[in-house]
Order: sequence, then structure tokens, then C-alpha cells
Amino acid sequence: MANKIQFMETILRDGQQSQIATRMPIDDMLPMLEDLDAAGYYALEVWGGATFDSCLRYLNEDPWERLRTIRAHVKNTKLQMLLRGQNLLGYRNYADDIVRAFVKKSIENGIDVLRIFDALNDTRNLTTSIKAAKDAGGEVQAAICYTTSDVHTIRYFVSLATEMERAGADSIAIKDMAGVLTPDVAYDLVREIKQACDLPIQLHTHGTAGIAQMTYLKAIEAGADIIDTCLSPFAEGTSQPATESMAISLSRMGYEIDLDVDKLDHIAEHFAHVRDRFIAEGGLNPKVLEVEPKALLYKVPGGMLSNLISNLEELGASDRYNEVLAEVPRVRADLGYPPLVTPLSQMVGTQALMNVLSGERYSVVPKEIKDYVRGMYGRPPVKIRHEIQELIIGEEKPITCRPADLILPQLGELRKEIACYARSEEDVLSYALFPEQARDFLGRREDPFYDVPVQEVEVSIDVA
Ligand code: CO
Repeated sequence: MANKIQFMETILRDGQQSQIATRMPIDDMLPMLEDLDAAGYYALEVWGGATFDSCLRYLNEDPWERLRTIRAHVKNTKLQMLLRGQNLLGYRNYADDIVRAFVKKSIENGIDVLRIFDALNDTRNLTTSIKAAKDAGGEVQAAICYTTSDVHTIRYFVSLATEMERAGADSIAIKDMAGVLTPDVAYDLVREIKQACDLPIQLHTHGTAGIAQMTYLKAIEAGADIIDTCLSPFAEGTSQPATESMAISLSRMGYEIDLDVDKLDHIAEHFAHVRDRFIAEGGLNPKVLEVEPKALLYKVPGGMLSNLISNLEELGASDRYNEVLAEVPRVRADLGYPPLVTPLSQMVGTQALMNVLSGERYSVVPKEIKDYVRGMYGRPPVKIRHEIQELIIGEEKPITCRPADLILPQLGELRKEIACYARSEEDVLSYALFPEQARDFLGRREDPFYDVPVQEVEVSIDVA
């Protein structure tokens, strides 16, 4: 056996996003960047996800500058980012011109590998960013959004992986943002995808339900090539398994590992101080470290369960929890089994709650659900039944094209809007993605009298 297992380090992106709501400033990273570069990682995940928004909104940092700084210190190891296909770093579809420009600039500023996914696994939503990344010389890792349902079978995911291979992916990630991928399924999934595709497979999960190391081990036994881990100070719980522990145990089992564990230990000491500071200042809620097996029991991500509980509490309807919980899978089936990931998990949860509390299913429907049924998010895994469609949008006809086909180019207009503060195309793109936050950030930078202060810390965690 003794195949080689490679590691992607998440402490600079998903690890800190999952545990401290992405509030780690570049100053905490700087002292360790050269060591991280020399530790033997396949890649460092450093950008995308919530890092961009957090830089502008809370840290008064230019996200592009952060990327360039990291690149200047990490000369050999690949830098990776997370991208939501046509949504880029947000939850709405952008015009193709913005997607192309953003992807190109990400690569120009230092990104090597783009992990690209779509919340519905609609590959049409990946095409523009995949092509843009390839055109700019980037490496594309297409990510399968893992979820559990009657239709999300091994066969479904395998055909998705082959579709991604045909679309030009250089590698495939199985992205389990809810931490619900069990070891047995991981084994079958990796083995079957390996048989069907000729690409490296990378696994991404979260330790929320307490099974992540087992899942990785079984995936590795089935032939997975790369795993996502986080250095111990920000590992486990809602984050990934600890890099050091995985490296040591896999190496003892005979797998070839490139990581230098003494170096990892040295880096971890630095980040342990960073973590302790966050704990002391209240920026790390110990709840993120709790084991939460409910996600496995109810097949509903932990974050969605806690959202439902707090929504019901606010409405004084906590006694309806079990009814709402039972309604969730019904709503999901009605809507064509969308993966339970942000923002769809929140949307399905809200609709289930409204169906129960209103007393009549779909008598109250939020705009987001209507747009979803109109096809504005993309194609659901299974076609929505006509009677459900009619209940939600009446006689309106859903679109059948790729949603972004209906969006006109936007960049020219945005360039004009922010001309007063933007010094570069990167500034314009910050504004395109997060208009208010970017305007405030750029305004503070360019105008000494700009009077909107940096937002106070307000911790809410969105795992991705
Ligand atoms: Co994640």
C-alpha cells in the first residue's frame, strides 16, 4: 500500500473561519508564513470563503493586499482559495464579466488553485469560473457539495465527478461542509470516483459530529490523495482534524507523508498563543469544540438545527420544534432535494417553519424560495413537481437556462460608481462583491474625513 498522502492546511482560512469567524488578522499569520511554506504541505488554503468580507468589514485590511503579502512569503507551496462558482464569495449570481475579472485577478495576485463549487451542484454555474481560471493559468479543483438524501447516491456523485472532469477540472474535492460524511460512505464514494475519473481526489470535512478522522482514514484506504487538516490550535470541533496528529498517525501506518512534524510543532506553538488571545478576548466560543452527533441522527447540519431552535424561541414557539424538524425533509423533497448547505439550508429551514406555524403549507413563501423555484439559483438535483411549483409561483414559468445568462455585464457601471475611491481593478472588484463594506474600506483609505468606522466585532460563524 504505502501510497503518498498530501495535506492542505486550513488554519489561515477554513480553520479560523470555523472557530473564530474569520477574524484572524494578517499580523497573526506573518511570523509563520515562511515556516508554513517549508513544512511540506501540498497547499495552504488562504483566501476566499469569508476571508474577503471579514478583511473589509472587521479587520480594515485590503483582502488583495493580504493575498499578495502571503504570496511574497510563501514562494514554493501552492496557495488555494474557495470560490462559489457564479456566486464568487457571496450568495447571489454575478455577471460573467465580474466572474472572469475576479478569477483572473485572484490568480494574478497569487492564487494557484481555485476550489470551485456550486451549492446545488449545478455544473452550469461552474463553467465561467472554470474557464476563466484555466485561461489565466490557474489550477481548477472542482468540488462536489456533499449532502445526504434519497437522491444523493454514490452513483449521483460519481456522475457529477465525471461531468466535472469533462468540464476541465484538474482535481476533484469532496466537500462536506456539514460534517455529515460517514466513514463507510467516504470509502465507497472515493473508490467509485477513483474508478470513474482519472483525477486526484481531495477530501474536505468538519469535525462537528466527531467522526472526521475516521472519515479521512477510510477515504485514504479507498485511494484519496489529499486531505484538508488544520494545525492543532484551531483544529477539531467545527474545524478540521489536527494536521500534526493525522500526519504522525498516517506516517506510522506506512503512508508516505512529506510534512516535517517538528516544524509543524513550532508553527502550532505560535498559533496556540493566537488562539489563547482569542479565548481571552471572547472571540472563540468554546461551543465550537463540542461534539454534535445530532447532525448524523437527523441528517440535518448542526448549524441548521441551532438556527431553527433560536428562530422558534424568538417566535415563542419552541414547542413546535419536533413538528418543524419533521417538516424539513418534506420541504426538501418538495424542492427537489437541494443540498443542505448555505444558503439553501436556511431557506429550507425557514420554509419548514412557516409551513408549520402558518397552519397551511406554502401559504407563506419567502422571496428566496420563490426565486429558487423560478430556477434563479440553478437546477435542483430533481425536478420540482408541478403541483408544488404551482403552489409557490402560480402560473409563472421557471427559467431553464443558466441563471447568469440573464445578467447583463456589470463591471463598467460599477467601475464608474466607485471611481472616486478605487485605485485599481482589484478595488473595483472588492466593490462589486461587497459594495457597502468596500466603499467604507476604500473611503477610509482615500479620505481622511470619511467617517464610517470599522465595524465592531460581532461573532457569527458560517462554516463552509
Ligand atoms: Co469547510
